[in-house]
Amino acid sequence: MPQTLLALLDERLRSATQLAFGADVELPAPLVLPTRDPKHGDYSCAAALSLAKALKQPPMAIAERLAAMAGLEDLCEPPVVTPPGFVNFRLRREWLAVRVAEGDLVAAPTPTPEIAVVDYSSPNLAKEMHVGHLRSTIIGDSLANVLAALGHQVHRVNHVGDWGAQFGMLLAHLEEIRSGENLGIRDVEAFYREANERDKSDEAFHELARRRVVELQAGDVAARAAWAELVDLTKRSNQVVYDALGVGGLEDVGESFYQPMLDEVVADLEHQGLCVEDQGAKVAFVDGFTNRDGDPLPLIIQNRHGGYGYAVTDLAALRYRAVELGAKQVLYVVDAGQSQHLQMVFSVARKAGWIAPGVTVRHVAFGLVLGEDGKRLRTRSGDNVKLAELLGEAVDRARQFVVNRAEERSEAPPDDLDEVARVIGVGAVKYADLSQNRQSNYVFSFDRMLSLKGNTAPYLQYAYARIRSILREAAKGQPPVDLAVALDDDAELALAKTLVATADAVARVFDEDEPNHLCAHLYEVAQVFSRFYEACPVLRSDEPTRSSRLALCDATAGVLRDGLALLGIDVLERL
Ligand code: ARG
Repeated sequence: MPQTLLALLDERLRSATQLAFGADVELPAPLVLPTRDPKHGDYSCAAALSLAKALKQPPMAIAERLAAMAGLEDLCEPPVVTPPGFVNFRLRREWLAVRVAEGDLVAAPTPTPEIAVVDYSSPNLAKEMHVGHLRSTIIGDSLANVLAALGHQVHRVNHVGDWGAQFGMLLAHLEEIRSGENLGIRDVEAFYREANERDKSDEAFHELARRRVVELQAGDVAARAAWAELVDLTKRSNQVVYDALGVGGLEDVGESFYQPMLDEVVADLEHQGLCVEDQGAKVAFVDGFTNRDGDPLPLIIQNRHGGYGYAVTDLAALRYRAVELGAKQVLYVVDAGQSQHLQMVFSVARKAGWIAPGVTVRHVAFGLVLGEDGKRLRTRSGDNVKLAELLGEAVDRARQFVVNRAEERSEAPPDDLDEVARVIGVGAVKYADLSQNRQSNYVFSFDRMLSLKGNTAPYLQYAYARIRSILREAAKGQPPVDLAVALDDDAELALAKTLVATADAVARVFDEDEPNHLCAHLYEVAQVFSRFYEACPVLRSDEPTRSSRLALCDATAGVLRDGLALLGIDVLERL
């Protein structure tokens, strides 16, 4: 099916309405919504209520007319009109059965593929990645997966902080200790702190650092080589984290990439009168942005020493993405704390005419990760939590969790315990993050994320493995008689309806940049499946029911596996 179910219902009903009331009637969007109460059917249209005024007709009359014209006979039972003017639809068993058997339930590819940029992860080099980058990486990866599944061409951009004044002091310090070759990343962090200390306390050092920045920016060979060494060192340590997370496909297009473009970007802004001198610096004023005192807040384009910073690099990056790459969607998966900065950048870029109509630029903001004490997650000594350690602990705890569970059931732990522990541990961390409303802060709790009770990754992974084991069991017996699905039992019907709504959940993730809609949906799939499995014997039933139910099991497993894959979470065939 090239469309999601909601899109299909909407399209059909829209043309029916226009046929009935004229092509120029104003219709609400969306026209159809899932009903809250199954008593009223599966989907409902409230358009009659809003049309009543414009058409000067009673809503019930309009609803009756709409119901008569709907033209959804193949998909739905005859619609039912209820006061004050709803038209309610119930999906037909026959249509659902065919649709489930058809497969491809997870994503409906867009008819208009676009180029998209997702800016995510984006740690600062010469510092270790911290938990603040965890959310960006996890959310960004899943949104990029969804965009790709919908058929868009996605650039997964790691906007690494690999440039800036801090590299001057790092280079100066590196010189002092001669060689960075044998520095481990932990040393680099300490190294960063030391450099920072010296920079603050030692005037001569500070001067040297300043000189090194200038040289670096001027393309001095020695400075460039030392910089590259530092960059390389930190990239290697970040790669350990990406490998552990199973996050791939990110292209490093860091801040340094845009440096050669900055003169031109600034010239463009000046030429358009968007950039003015202010106390020796060059700044852009953006309507609607003020500081705490209510004074206009400028975006610093160039500081009074002639240096370029974070903001102008972001302007160049946005210009490059929208103009050079031709991106129609540019997503910034960045913590909510940078909201003002990004809004100012977007607004200047728009004024400069770099964002063509039809291009959307979105800040996908997210909240903080909190410790169990409700404060920003930190180690006991108050340091940033190292991502590599956090993931390591998740995997260790997952291993224990699997071993305990096996013991409880007097089973042997799985042979591939390490792999199982990795899939469950990393999946739990990702899912705990993605299943939240991304704007809110959330409390990081190993106990909660590694529980089989509630909306967790292990719950879904176990549900998947259980279905796979049913299918394996079935494969030992009679081969299926045919692949048709029949939905005679209400529990079968409910399962089919939930499965068929999957692509709409994915569409909603895209519309709102909110992976939690897919989490909620997969959780529902697993729950509805479990009700089905309680009510409807599968292996013990007679043909052709057995084959039909096996097909439902297979479709459910497919939805869970492919849905979790969009979230960047792996499944296991056995647990
Ligand atoms: N490096 C920044 C940080 O760690 C995040 C960069 C986000 N992306 C961007 N285009 N500004 O805070």
